Parts: sequence; C-alpha cells; structure tokens
Amino acid sequence: MMETDGRSSAETLFWFETPLQDGSILRTVRYAEPAPELVMWHARYDPRRFSFRPAQTQEALRLAGLEKRPIKRQAEYWAGRNLMMLAFGLQTPPGRMPSGAPHLPSGVSGSLSHSSDNILLLAGPEGAYTGVDIERRLTPIALQSVINRVATQAEQRWLHDLAASQQQLGATVLFSAKETLFKALCSKMNVNPGYAAAEAPAPPQHGVLSLKLTRNLGPGLDSGQCFELSYAQMNDFMLTWLCQSSI
Ligand SMILES: CC(C)(COP(=O)(O)OP(=O)(O)OC[C@H]1O[C@@H](n2cnc3c(N)ncnc32)[C@H](O)[C@@H]1OP(=O)(O)O)[C@@H](O)C(=O)NCCC(=O)NCCS
Repeated sequence: MMETDGRSSAETLFWFETPLQDGSILRTVRYAEPAPELVMWHARYDPRRFSFRPAQTQEALRLAGLEKRPIKRQAEYWAGRNLMMLAFGLQTPPGRMPSGAPHLPSGVSGSLSHSSDNILLLAGPEGAYTGVDIERRLTPIALQSVINRVATQAEQRWLHDLAASQQQLGATVLFSAKETLFKALCSKMNVNPGYAAAEAPAPPQHGVLSLKLTRNLGPGLDSGQCFELSYAQMNDFMLTWLCQSSI
C-alpha cells in the first residue's frame, strides 16, 4: 500500500458499462478484465424492485432455503442470481452448494460477494480456485474490533506501524483478502479454518497482498503455502480477488 515516496496507492479497475433490460432488480451492471480469462462483474441493485411473487424467484429462494429470511437478504440473493444469469448467459438462476458457495455452470469458475447495494461476481476459467470479496472501507470506530478479530500478532505489528489512513486501508484489505481466500479454497479446505489460518507477513502494496497459510488446511494446502491476492479500491469499497489455476 505504501509507495516508495510514502503516497498510498491501490489499483483501480477499468470498467465497461453493460445495458440492462427494464424491470431488472439490477440498476447498473459493468465489467472489468483484471487479467486474461478473468472477468469481474459489478452490479448495483435496488431492493425496492424485489418481488417474491414471480414463480422463478420463489423457487430459487426455496431451493436456497431462504423463503423465511428477511426480505433484504432475499433481495441480495436474488440480485446475485440475476448478475450470474446475465454474466453466464443463463435462463435459470444457479443454486448454491451445501457449503454456501454458488453452484456454477460447467465451463467456468466463479465467486460472489455483496456489500450494501453492490454485487460483485468474479468469473474465471473452469477448474480454477476463484474468490472475490467486497468490503466497505473500515471506519475508525470499527477498525480496532476488526483488527482484534481478524489480524494475527504479526499482522497487528505491521498495522500498528502504519499511519492512520494507511492502517484503515491495510486492515480493510487484510479482512477482505481473508474472506476471498476462504471462498477460493473452500472446496479443498477443512471447514471453518479461522482467520489465523492465513497470515500476511507484510502490508498490501501495489495492488497485491500475500497471504501465507499458518497450518495445514487440507490436501495440497500445506503450512507456509503462499497466495498473492489482488486488491483495488472502488469509491468507499475495497475489492479483493484471487484466481489460481492449480494448487
Ligand atoms: C463465507 C464467508 C466468506 C462469506 O463472506 P461475507 O463477507 O460474510 O459475505 P459476502 O457477501 O462477501 O459473500 C457471500 C457470498 O459468498 C458465497 N459463499 C458463501 N459461502 C461460501 C463458501 N463456503 N465458499 C465459497 N463461497 C461462499 C455465496 O455466494 C454468498 O452469497 P449468496 O449466499 O448470496 O450466494 C464468511 O462468512 C466466512 O466464513 N469467513 C471466514 C473467512 C476465514 O476464515 N478465512 C481464513 C483464511 S482461509
């Protein structure tokens, strides 16, 4: 995060707007291509446009076990399904796996995240380990409790050495990156590894945060293994992502 001259920096993405059909819960959709074979989709949705009435919506919520959840969660889930249908050219909304991971059509890998009225979908090549996360930039009030919950002793040391604004960005990237890594590795990993299962030896810099596994997490996921996660800032939000073809 710190340039050599002390300025802060986080990568930004170059977005392409996509037209939408009238009546969609999605208000805007755009995409970026952060790397070859990788497409980041970003949508903003309007929860007031959500209706439980259409049969397809009811069925999707029933299959996901969300019929009795608050309408806010239902709208969020439905908006994510709408974005997946648009991105992957599907007529029916994809369901979800027992783990909670989205069920993806064959030929692709992908990961989903939401925050406020934003939905983020990362689409990668089939078989890749793909994770994405969007987090609102931590406020000074939330900062310490998130650090206590998410950061290891080593991470707390480098966070402590950063200037206040850098600390906010650094902690947001760290938190988001640990969510992203979990999503990317979920299919290979023991359940609930906990935030201390991965550690960043140094602050994020130039759009990259390295996370190292602190213990063995499953087949092919050995202690010491390193993952380089990307991050970018989008207004008040931080995006992190990972797409790795093999582990
Ligand atoms: C599951 C978890 C990652 C969700 O993250 P979140 O920031 O709360 O919520 P987000 O909006 O970013 O993501 C939610 C989406 O993640 C996806 N998701 C949920 N569980 C998932 C899983 N096990 N694997 C992959 N994706 C998953 C779903 O698509 C879900 O949205 P949907 O239900 O509408 O389809 C989080 O609750 C969690 O368990 N974090 C632990 C992280 C950790 O221990 N990391 C240690 C390093 S490996």
